[in-house]
Amino acid sequence: MTEHPLLLTPLRIRELELRNRIVISPMCTYSAEDGMMNDWHLAHLGQFAIGGAGLVFCEASAVEERGRITHGDVGIWKDEQIAPIKRVFDFVKAHGARTAIQIAHAGRKASMQRPWFGSGPLDDTDRARGDLPWEIVGASPIPVDEGWLLPRELASDEIPALIEQWVAAARRALATGADVLEIHGAHGYLLASFLSPISNRRRDRYGGDRAGRMRLPLEISEAVRAVWPDDKPLFFRISAVDGAENGWNLDDSVVLARELKALGVDVVDCSSGGISGAATAAGVKRQPGYQVPYAERIRKDADLITQAVGLITHPLQAEEILREQRADLIAIAREALNNPHWALHAAAALGADPEFEDWPTQYGWWLVRRERSSVYYQPPGDQAGAVE
Ligand SMILES: Cc1cc2nc3c(=O)[nH]c(=O)nc-3n(C[C@H](O)[C@H](O)[C@H](O)COP(=O)(O)O)c2cc1C
Repeated sequence: MTEHPLLLTPLRIRELELRNRIVISPMCTYSAEDGMMNDWHLAHLGQFAIGGAGLVFCEASAVEERGRITHGDVGIWKDEQIAPIKRVFDFVKAHGARTAIQIAHAGRKASMQRPWFGSGPLDDTDRARGDLPWEIVGASPIPVDEGWLLPRELASDEIPALIEQWVAAARRALATGADVLEIHGAHGYLLASFLSPISNRRRDRYGGDRAGRMRLPLEISEAVRAVWPDDKPLFFRISAVDGAENGWNLDDSVVLARELKALGVDVVDCSSGGISGAATAAGVKRQPGYQVPYAERIRKDADLITQAVGLITHPLQAEEILREQRADLIAIAREALNNPHWALHAAAALGADPEFEDWPTQYGWWLVRRERSSVYYQPPGDQAGAVE
């Protein structure tokens, strides 16, 4: 590649400059206690900064205790939770990445099992482990699926306090030193469940037509933007489509994105699915870059920055998405679990860092010398790369 790769070109959003366009997508690891980050989160998120990403998201952080998905979720509902997050963010920033926090409320998908215990509603086996279920709230009293907990409908007069919880979470997020704040409006959690006609059957001003269903996410965005500093970007993650009959669709998302932009949201992070059925139900057929068309359409029709995510695994794939102006940021999740140094390897694959200069010195010093002087083992029969 002769031109400098776009994937590795810095991007400025408001006063924030990212060293490249590679984002580690928010990923719950269900390893917190009482919503507090610990050494696990430091090592887990720290490795992505060492690995060269431009922006590192920490996992969905609950704005109130009953808004956790599981007992292991990270929280941002009380001041004690600030310092452990700040410790992680300080490390991430010291290694050249910028930090993002996703504030979230699980709504009717709260009180669930950690994935490795089943990903369903908490049951007797979980009770025996000490993981007790709790009362869940939602847009309407409609469970995610058969056998799931019935959410209590949030009363209209509870909404102002709920908005205040998001605002308080945003203030705490600021105190953690986060560079970016993202509002989680995707995957069937509370805000997505207000947006979708599948889960919102309310008769008050927070339900009904699309404008009514968008009201709560928009009011929260406006209130959060008012306390989130002007020089810092605000992201909003959407499920661009429910992927279910009579659900939220891409035209709805374009309208929402325009409204969000008018309120000062800078980036729409384009995911999909999750409104009903199994917790991780796809709704949309999984194939490489399956959600990129959403980022592309919203970018074009709402005229704002979009983040593409979902089965983006190859540096050339990521570079092509940016070159074709289908999105502005590339988020990776599972591929980063597989290879936390993905960004550095992408630079190598795109020919941008032949001398390992982007690596932390503690690694790069060795790796460049190994590259110059070493011969590598070749499996028997593999003549293609055999060393004479
Ligand atoms: C372990 C794990 C945890 C996740 N947790 C979150 C989360 O906290 N918030 C969120 O918006 N998405 C979450 N996601 C979705 C990812 O951010 C991402 O959108 C999805 O995995 C698709 O990207 P990928 O194909 O690169 O993995 C999670 C995904 C995984 C694999």
